[in-house]
This record gives sequence, structure tokens and C-alpha cells, in this order.
Amino acid sequence: MLKSHSCGELNKKHLGAKVTLAGWVNRRRDHGGLTFIDLRDREGIVQVVFNPEVSKLCHEVASQMRSEYVVRVSGEVALRPPGTENPKLPTGDIEVIAYNTDILNTSKTPPFYINEDTEIEESLRLKYRYLDLRRARMKENLLLRYRVVKFIRDFLDTKGFIEIETPILIKSTPEGARDYLVPSRVHPGKFYALPQSPQQLKQLLMVAGVEKYFQIAKCFRDEDTRADRQPEFTQLDLEMSFVEEEDILNLLEELFISMVKTIKPEIRMTKPFPRLTYTEAMEYYGTDKPDLRLGMEIRDLSDIVAQSNFSIFLSAIAEGGKVKGICAPGCANYTRHQLVELNEVVRNVGAEGFITLPLGASGGSINDLTLEMVRSVATKFLTLDQIKQIAERLGANRGDLLFIIAGKASKIVDVALGELRLELGRRLKLADPNVLAFIFIVDFPLLWWNEETGQWEAMHHPFTAPKDEDASLLDVAPEKVQGKHYDIVCNGCEIAGGSIRIHTSELQRKIFKLLGYNDDEIEERFGHLLEAFDYGAPPHGGIAPGIDRIVMLLTGEETIREVIPFPKSQTACDLTFSAPSTITEQQLAELHLRLREES
Ligand code: AMO
Repeated sequence: MLKSHSCGELNKKHLGAKVTLAGWVNRRRDHGGLTFIDLRDREGIVQVVFNPEVSKLCHEVASQMRSEYVVRVSGEVALRPPGTENPKLPTGDIEVIAYNTDILNTSKTPPFYINEDTEIEESLRLKYRYLDLRRARMKENLLLRYRVVKFIRDFLDTKGFIEIETPILIKSTPEGARDYLVPSRVHPGKFYALPQSPQQLKQLLMVAGVEKYFQIAKCFRDEDTRADRQPEFTQLDLEMSFVEEEDILNLLEELFISMVKTIKPEIRMTKPFPRLTYTEAMEYYGTDKPDLRLGMEIRDLSDIVAQSNFSIFLSAIAEGGKVKGICAPGCANYTRHQLVELNEVVRNVGAEGFITLPLGASGGSINDLTLEMVRSVATKFLTLDQIKQIAERLGANRGDLLFIIAGKASKIVDVALGELRLELGRRLKLADPNVLAFIFIVDFPLLWWNEETGQWEAMHHPFTAPKDEDASLLDVAPEKVQGKHYDIVCNGCEIAGGSIRIHTSELQRKIFKLLGYNDDEIEERFGHLLEAFDYGAPPHGGIAPGIDRIVMLLTGEETIREVIPFPKSQTACDLTFSAPSTITEQQLAELHLRLREES
């Protein structure tokens, strides 16, 4: 090794030790005839002092050192002079007095500061990702990601799982996104698809008798990039035989609780994880991935306002719709401008707008509220008693602001209040960063009706089993069939999805048909799986937590790009390599491809 110690490990215990360090120049300062270098390696930073009285040559070499030069230093660990300690640095009590040094490599001036946590344009960070990853925050994210994956491997090992690799060049496995395709050179006109997940492979491993499988699996989906979505991402893919929904949920609860306790002990969680049905999640939060930290549950007010003479409310109810509301704590004095902005949020998702009821100044009881205190057009149509009933249903106090939305499509009312809830949560900073609010969402519908294509689509994926008691409804009322599908949600982010699977070819074929595949398509796309099911497939089920999203939540980052070493940009490009890129005519010819002129 070119070094005897790492920079970050040195402390008072090493006083008097002769050490050799190697790393990068984090900062250089010249002060009172001495040169100081903050030397950085993976483990941290230590101050090195170059004193011409100790070594004139070293002092001269140090004067040539610049930020990000790679240097080696031999020296003696000494106490810093009293008053010059740096309590912010773990090595801040000591310094290394250099008696030997050399420059191992120079560096151009980096395009951004590596030694400061400043705002840097993301495209620049991605182009120079290898420099970006030198920054302390990114290094910590890399380390935490490693520890999460290591924890998962160790945990599942103790539970009898084995890790098995599955291929990347395969055939389309539908998970609801577009496939990435790879042309075959050997088979003209044919293509591999990169797996959107190893779904069918892990099911085949169950048929193979593996019983407990997992994999840290790369998945590929050609869909628009978002804060929590990348074209290429990593799942913990997991499958078990002879299990029911409860077994998988219990295992995952134990995994997450022990992982968070080990890796981020300061984080608070509710144990056991609360459970919501899909219907409850939509009803109370307007989304199937609610952030429970925000409170502000949506409540149905239709029965109360049905007694009013407010035509907007009455007509929504008459047309089969709903009137629902939420309570924003302490917001009674929101300005017109704030309300106009918030109204945009609900209009953007298709609602007409909201009615507000500010509950007067804060303090005092709702019982003492008078109509004059409520500055709202709605007081013309609602009685004081109705307003008090609404306030009570929404758990409101004086000084709060109630938002009410009416609509003939109750789904739009739910979604609009759900969006409004999120926006209010952001503005009021209601999300406690030290809480991970895990929940299980269960009892999803098996299918949803796609208005655009006029077809049923799988809510999760086509391999999800219907609930036993609903199987007879498949022919008569597919919309009523629930699936054995569960999601894990944390802080408003879907972190895992899974299900108990279909394991007979008969039922699987029936579902494919419901989803609009004809016999030939079923055979061509899924013949291998259906045939496998005919050779003694065990009952099985599994789940796949997204590693990137879990690490994002644990690090408190806002996007998964911050926790992926080499992510794609928001337009799905690799900016370090400039990919995707063009290929040569010869490569095209070998792949039997010709590019089409786009008009
Ligand atoms: P699903 O499609 O729900 O299920 O994906 C499982 C989890 O993977 C993560 N995830 C993503 N993360 C980053 N970028 C993306 N584009 C992306 N897409 C999904 C999410 C999500 O909850 N085969 C099934 C699993 C199963 O049934 O066992 C599947 O892939 O955290």
C-alpha cells in the first residue's frame, strides 16, 4: 500500500505515530510561513502542516500543490496548538507534521467545488460524475446504499433465501412500461427485450423448486424519468413458494424495521406498519400512496351538505357525485393570492375549484363560532350548525381553513383533495424528516378499465392472482374482482409492489384473455410460463422493493438520481458517456438494421 493509515481514522490515540497518507488536496492555505493542506481520502479529512524548519523541500513541494492534486505525505501525528482545534472535524484535535511528501498526480481546476456543499447545475454534476462522487454528501449516499444492500443480503440469508442471477437479454415481461429492445445479430429481424423486472424468471424458479429466491436485480423500463423514476433501476426481487399474503407482509415488515434500526437508528417508525385498503387510501388521501405524516385526512361531507341549499353541492350529489373536504391547520388567514394558487392545484387535476371556510381567529372553541367569523361565500347557503358539523367531521379548530370540493365524479374530488393535501403539506412543512411512515396498501382491484384502449388492464401485472372468493366474478363483473396484490408505501412514495401469483395455466390463460390477448399472442408471449405451470407449479408469491427509492428515503434526498452512482439525466441520457449515441453503418448492417428518415 502507498499509505499506512487513512486520513479520517487519525485521532489523539495516534499521537507521536509516524504515518504515511495518500489522498486528494481538499484545500491549501499558506499562513505565517507554514503551508497547511487538508488532505482527503474516502474516510475523511486531516490537516497536514508543512513547516520549512522541519523540511524545506517538503514545504517547497507543498507550495506547488493545488486542489484535487493527488499527493502522498509521511509525517508525525501531533496535537494541534491550543485554540486551533477544529471541533467540526473528527480529526480536529490533531495534525500531521510532514517530513516527506510527493505529488502523485496533478489535477486541472475542477468544474465545481468538491470541498463545499453548494448548488451545482445537475447536468454538470452528471457529466463529471466521478468528481461529483468525491463530494462528501455523495460519498455518504454511496456508502449508505452499500450498507442497505449488504443488510438485505445478510437478513435474507438468515431466513433461508438464496440469491440467484437471472438474464438481462430476454423476452418482454409486461410491467406496464415500454421495453428496451436489443437487436440480434445472429437472428436477423429478431430482438431481445431487457427485463422490466425478473417477474417471470422468479416464478420459473419457484417451479424449479427454489422455494426462497432473491436478487438485487437491474430492471429496465422505457418510461418518462421523474424524481423517483429512472429508465434503469434496481429492485430487491423476492419470491417464495407455499406462502400467503400475510407471510410476505410479515417478512417485509421485519426486514424494513430491522434495516432502519440498524442503519438509521434515529428515525422513528410506527410498528406494526398500519394497513389501508386501496379503497380507504383513495377515500381518505386521494391516492394509493399516501404520506401519513401530513395528517389532513379527507372526509365525506355529502350527508351534511345535502341538508343545505347550496346548489353546487346539491347538484353534485344529485348526479351521483360527492362533496368532500380537508382541514388545513392554522390557515384561516390565507390571502386571496394564496387561495388562487391553491385553486390552480385542484383545477390542474380536473376539479372545478374549491369552496373555503376559514374558521375565524385561532383560540376559542368551535362551539363559540359565529357566522360573522366565517368569511366565505358559503355562509349564504350553509347554516352555522352545518358549518360546525363540517368542522367537527374534519377535526378542525378555530383558526383552521376548510377546503371543500364538490364533483359529480367522486374520483376527481378525491384526487384533487389528495393533490391539495400534498401541496398544503409542503407549504406548511408538515412532513417530519425524522419519520418513515411505512404503510401496507392491500385489497387492490385486480383490473382497471382503460378508457383510451377500451380494455381491461392489470392493476399490478397479469400474473397476480384474484382473491379466491372473487374468482367467480371474473366472467360477470371483472371490475369487482380484488387481487392478492399489496404495495408498501413510505412517506408518499411507493417503495414496493408484490402479489400472490396465479400458479395454474387455466386461470393464467383466462386472465390473459380478459386482458385482450388472443390465443396466438398468449402462446407466442407466454407459452413458456403456461407450460411450466403444467409441470407442478407450487403456490407462490413475492414482492419487489425499489432499492433506489429506499435509499432516497433513508438519505433524505429528493430524487433517486442522488443515490444512483451513474444515473440517467431527466431526458434519459448518460451525460458522462454521452449515451445514447450513434453507431456506425457497419454495426447497423451487422444487426440487419436500417435507420428510417424521420419526417
Ligand atoms: P413494480 O412494477 O410495482 O413491481 O415495481 C416494484 C418497485 O420497483 C420500484 N420501481 C422503480 N424505481 C425506480 N424507477 C422506476 N422506473 C421504477 N419502477 C418501479 C418501485 C416499485 O414499488 N415484478 C413486480 C414485483 C412483484 O410483483 O414481485 C414489479 O416489478 O419501488
